[in-house]
Amino acid sequence: MPGRTTSLIAPSILASDFARLGVEVESVTIAGADWIHCDVMDGDFVPNISFGAPIVEAASRHTALPLDVHLMIQRPDRYIEQFMAVKGVASVTSHLEANHDAGITLDRVRAAGKKAGLSIKPGTPLDQARELFGRFDILLIMTVEPGFGGQPFMTDMLGKISEADRLRTDLGLGFLIEVDGGIDPKTAALCREAGADVMVAGTSVFKAADRAVEIRAMRE
Ligand code: DX5
Ligand code: ZN
Repeated sequence: MPGRTTSLIAPSILASDFARLGVEVESVTIAGADWIHCDVMDGDFVPNISFGAPIVEAASRHTALPLDVHLMIQRPDRYIEQFMAVKGVASVTSHLEANHDAGITLDRVRAAGKKAGLSIKPGTPLDQARELFGRFDILLIMTVEPGFGGQPFMTDMLGKISEADRLRTDLGLGFLIEVDGGIDPKTAALCREAGADVMVAGTSVFKAADRAVEIRAMRE
C-alpha cells in the first residue's frame, strides 16, 4: 500500500542518555512517540553490547506506550520469556539470521499473546523469509547493518520495503513493515512511500532540538 498517509514512530532508547533513562523515556512519550524501541545486543550476533531485560523493565516504568523489543542476539529463544514477562512489552522481534528456529520463536511469542517480529539484515534477501510469511505480525527491515545507532540510511533497502509491501498485498497478509536505522524525516518519507508503517528512530529523535517537532515531521 505505497503512499500511506501517516507512520507510527518508535524512538530507539539506544540513542538516549542511559544515565537518565526514565526521564528520556518520559520525554519521547510526551513528545508523541507511538512505541518505545528497545535494542538488545549481545556482542555476538552484533559487535556491540547494549542492555537486557532489567533495563527494558526500568524503561517500562516510565511510559504507557507499547515496548517494541528488538533482539539482536544469538539464540533469542533462550530469552524471549524474560522480555515477554516485562509489563508493557507488546512485541518481540528476533533475527532470521540468528542461530535459532525462527519459526518456533515466532510461534512462541504469538502463543504468549505478544506481537511476533522477524528482522532481516540488509544483506538478507526477503526471499529467505518467504516460508515464514504468515507467522509474524511485524517485519523489521534493517536499513543499516545492525549493531550501532547513528549510521547512514541505506537507500538500496527501499526496494526490499516495496517488495515486502507488494508481497503482503498479494498474500493478503496484515503484518506491519517496520524500518530501522538512519531514519529521519527525509528517509522516513521515502520508506513510507515504499510501504513502511513503523519508523524506528534513535539519533534523529534523541539528538533533536525539539523531539516533538522531529516526531511530527517524521510521521507525515
Ligand atoms: C541498530 C538498531 C537501531 C538503531 C537506530 O542496530 O537496531 O534501532 O538504534 O538508531 P539510529 O536511528 O540512530 O540509526
Ligand atoms: Zn532496532
